[in-house]
Amino acid sequence: MSEQLEQSQTLNNLMRAFAGESMAQTRYLLAADEAQKQNYAAIARLFRFTAEQERQHAKVFSGFIAGAAGENTDITAGFPSEFPADIQQLLEAAANGERSEADIVYPDFARIAREEGFTDIADRFAMIGQIEETHRKRFAYYAGLMSSGMLLRSESTEERWICLNCGHIHTGSEPPKNCPVCGVPQGWRVREAEADFTFSGLV
Ligand SMILES: [Fe+2]
Ligand SMILES: [Fe+2]
Repeated sequence: MSEQLEQSQTLNNLMRAFAGESMAQTRYLLAADEAQKQNYAAIARLFRFTAEQERQHAKVFSGFIAGAAGENTDITAGFPSEFPADIQQLLEAAANGERSEADIVYPDFARIAREEGFTDIADRFAMIGQIEETHRKRFAYYAGLMSSGMLLRSESTEERWICLNCGHIHTGSEPPKNCPVCGVPQGWRVREAEADFTFSGLV
């Protein structure tokens, strides 16, 4: 199989995918740094959460590439070149990148791998493409909350906001400007149901 992979378009696509995932990871870590700097700690956490997943995608691809062996290969691909400082724009740019991976790049790579007879690789491309769609939805959701002014505001006076620094929960339509327990700014808050390991009604 490895010899066959060496001659294939799929090997080139695996390398493009590895490069794309590696860059996505770095872009999201840089976005997380920027969000943290601007005290949007919850958004920073979203970028780090997603960056780790991109790293794992790169690892899956590197496993297939390692089985094929060898020489350096030239690849070409289009990668986003914008690094906005505005957090809403960062989220929108991330959602756009995910859209092209989910809708075009991975479905194409999966189709070619299937045509070339690499069923397992085709399945991984397809499944990772589906993951990118969940990334797109998540980034778009938070970009939408920001653009509508609802990132830190709710229609409900019963909304539960958790402080991602100390765990304090505030109930109301808006979290306090600073946490009454640990003092961190509002951007550390997220709806409790959207925080890790919390379930509505659990506490
Ligand atoms: Fe990915
Ligand atoms: Fe992604």
